[in-house]
Amino acid sequence: MANSSGFFTSSVPSLRRRIQPPIGIYRSGLRSLEGFSNRVFCSSTIKGAEKPSSGASPAEYRVPSLVSKGCKLVGCGSAAPTLMISNDDLAKIVDTSDEWISVRTGIHNRRVLSDKDSLTTLAVEAARKALDMAQVDPDDVDLVLMCTSTPEDLFGSAPQIQKALGCKRNPLAYDITAACSGFVLGLVSAACHIRGGGFQNVLVIGADALSRYVDWTDRGTCILFGDAAGAVLVQACDSEEDGLFSFDLHSDGDGQRHLNATMKENEMDNAAESNGSVLGFPPRRSSYSCIQMNGKEVFRFAVRCVPQSIESALEKAGLPRSSIDWLLLHQANQRIIDAVATRLEIPPERVISNLANYGNTSAASIPLALDEAVRSGKVKAGHTIAAAGFGAGLTWGSAILRWG
Ligand code: ACO
Repeated sequence: MANSSGFFTSSVPSLRRRIQPPIGIYRSGLRSLEGFSNRVFCSSTIKGAEKPSSGASPAEYRVPSLVSKGCKLVGCGSAAPTLMISNDDLAKIVDTSDEWISVRTGIHNRRVLSDKDSLTTLAVEAARKALDMAQVDPDDVDLVLMCTSTPEDLFGSAPQIQKALGCKRNPLAYDITAACSGFVLGLVSAACHIRGGGFQNVLVIGADALSRYVDWTDRGTCILFGDAAGAVLVQACDSEEDGLFSFDLHSDGDGQRHLNATMKENEMDNAAESNGSVLGFPPRRSSYSCIQMNGKEVFRFAVRCVPQSIESALEKAGLPRSSIDWLLLHQANQRIIDAVATRLEIPPERVISNLANYGNTSAASIPLALDEAVRSGKVKAGHTIAAAGFGAGLTWGSAILRWG
C-alpha cells in the first residue's frame, strides 16, 4: 500500500514493541532518570473502586469515573491528490517564475484537488493508513477529530469520515477549525479526551483544500498552497508511557487582518429585496472570499512567535533544546522553517521539511510530513519531536511529543 509519496506500509515497523525510557512516579509529575519532567496530566485524581457500607450490591461500588491516563502516537498516514502543479505551470497563469517561487518559498510543486477528488476521500485514505499502522480496527476508534478549515459540509466532515471508515459503534466525530494550527490543536484535544474522558483510540486528521479558496490570479498567494490530508492515531496508555510531554497554544484575533477568508454576501441574490416586507430579511446567501494575506506580516509573526512557543513548551516539559530529535513545523515557507531552526539552534539535519513537493497544505502539513518521515525511517519510535503550527486566526501553538 503506497502513501502519497510512494512509501510502502509493509516496511513500517510495528509500533507495538517499544522500549520505554526509565521513569518513576513522583508526586503529580514524572521523574525520568535523566531529570525532572513536568509532564501534562489530567487534573483529576484517580478514584479507585471504594467499598460502600456492608450489604451493598457490587453495582453500588464506586467505580472510577475519571482516570488519569497517558496518550501516545501509534500510527500515521497521509494522502494527496494526484494532480501535481509545478511552478512552471503557475508561471503560465500568473506573472511569476520557478526561480522566484523556489527562492522565496522553497516550494517546487503542489498537489491540487481536481474534479474526481474529494477532501473527505483523502482524509479517509490517510485515516485508514494510520489505523493499519497502529493495527487498530475502525470499530475500536472512539473519537474522530477532523482538523480542517475547508470542510465539504458546512456542519462538519468528521461524521462522514467516521461513516466511510465503517466505525459501527457510532463514535463521536467532529471538526476543529484552526487553519494551519488545526492539527496541533487536534492532538492536544485528543490528549484531553483521553486523559480526562476515558477515550481509548482517537483519530486526529488534518486535511485541507485551500486551493478552493485561492484567487488563482493573485501571484502573492496562489503559489503557496496545496491540498492534502494526514492522520495520526492517538491511543490511551499508562501515564508512565505518556508521549505528549507538553504544549503551548495561543491566538490573536487582532492579527486576523493579515490573513483571512471572510464571509461575503452574494450580490446576485436579490431575495431580500424581492419579497421581504422587512428590510434586510431574508438574509442574502453568503460564501467565503478568497484568501487575503499580507505575506510579510504573517512571515514576521511566524518567525517571532513560533520559537517562543516551542521554548515555552520545552520549559513546561522540563526538557532542553538538545533533547529535540526532530523539529516539525507547519510547512508554510522554507525560509520560515530555517529562521525558526536557527533561532532554536537546531541543525538542518534535524529539521523535517517536505514542502518542496506539496506547498502549504494547512492543517495537513504536519501529519503529512510526519508520515513521510516515519515511513522513510527518519523518525523512529522513542524520538522526541517539537511540532508547531501557525496561521490564520491568528493561531499558533506547539507540542513536545514522543513518536511511538
Ligand atoms: N512572483 C514574482 N513576483 C512576486 C510574486 C510572485 N509569485 N509575489 C510577489 N511578487 C513580487 C511583489 O509584487 C513584490 O514586487 P515589488 O517589489 O515590485 O513590489 C516583490 O515580489 C516582493 O514581494 P513580497 O510580498 O515583499 O515578497 P516576500 O519576500 O515577502 O515573499 C511570501 C512573499 C512568499 C508570500 C512571503 O511573504 C511569505 O511566505 N509569507 C508567509 C506566508 C505564510 O506563511 N502564510 C501562512 C498561511 S497559513 C494559513 O493559515 C492559511
